[in-house]
Amino acid sequence: MTRIALTGALGRMGTLIIQEAAKVKDMQLVAGLDAIGAGTALPGGIIVRDASQLEAALLESKPDVLIDFTIAKAAVDNVCTAAGIGINLVVGTTGFSPEQTSRMKKAIDGHVAAVITPNFSLGVNVFWKLVADAAAALKDYDIEIIEAHHNQKKDAPSGTALATVQAIKTALGDSEVIYGREGIMPRGKEIGVHAVRGGDIVGDHTVLFAGSGERLEIKHQAHSRTAFASGAVRAADWVVGKEPGIYTMADVLKSR
Ligand SMILES: NC(=O)c1ccc[n+]([C@@H]2O[C@H](COP(=O)([O-])OP(=O)(O)OC[C@H]3O[C@@H](n4cnc5c(N)ncnc54)[C@H](O)[C@@H]3O)[C@@H](O)[C@H]2O)c1
Repeated sequence: MTRIALTGALGRMGTLIIQEAAKVKDMQLVAGLDAIGAGTALPGGIIVRDASQLEAALLESKPDVLIDFTIAKAAVDNVCTAAGIGINLVVGTTGFSPEQTSRMKKAIDGHVAAVITPNFSLGVNVFWKLVADAAAALKDYDIEIIEAHHNQKKDAPSGTALATVQAIKTALGDSEVIYGREGIMPRGKEIGVHAVRGGDIVGDHTVLFAGSGERLEIKHQAHSRTAFASGAVRAADWVVGKEPGIYTMADVLKSR
């Protein structure tokens, strides 16, 4: 039985993770926390506790893994709290600064196993591989990344777009990155990154490779957040019993 706790339990992703976890045999939600809505009953009867009670809730409910889909500032604190008491982690929250990322790494390394990824969908994990291959093959082409998300998304560009930049840099070596353009801006050899926000777009990512006389576009579109939620639940099942350290979704998918 995998016992899971969830921070961000009443959010868009938290709500779906509860639904997806309920479909998995031998998985049980044992605690749900959120910054709002303490006292709300979750499906299965767990009562949402206030985010400030995380340590007590974890000590009492003894989960194998904490899944976090909140906001960057809260997620860093949640990771430090859970890792400090030996609870494995699945982190889907995005928008971390380099300092926040290194704080989480320090808390996790040598203590617990954690899957951290800005995108839990199978399709995006294939998309990153295709983009890296295309970047290596089309070295002189201009590269632009265009992402689109709903109007409630807090961070920009998306964590998935930033991970896409990393995939391209791994293939090409370090490259300049420009976030949006305005005014007189002749193009150099930079990677351009553009964030579109509107309506209820779940998440689109396109990488455009433009050369002389042709262009190639590699595109992923999420139709529903279920693609992320089911990946996160699968990662939670996978991470229990792994050696301490930080893993990606690629590690989880290797074991399909
Ligand atoms: N990795 C992925 O595959 C993936 C997919 C979708 C969204 N995300 C990311 O997940 C995060 C959440 O997205 P969402 O759409 O569910 O947002 P949301 O705003 O709907 O939900 C976030 C929830 O976290 C709660 N929260 C805030 N501070 C908290 C704290 N200290 N403790 C507990 N709960 C707290 C909020 O009250 C809210 O209910 C974002 O960073 C988003 O970019 C990642």
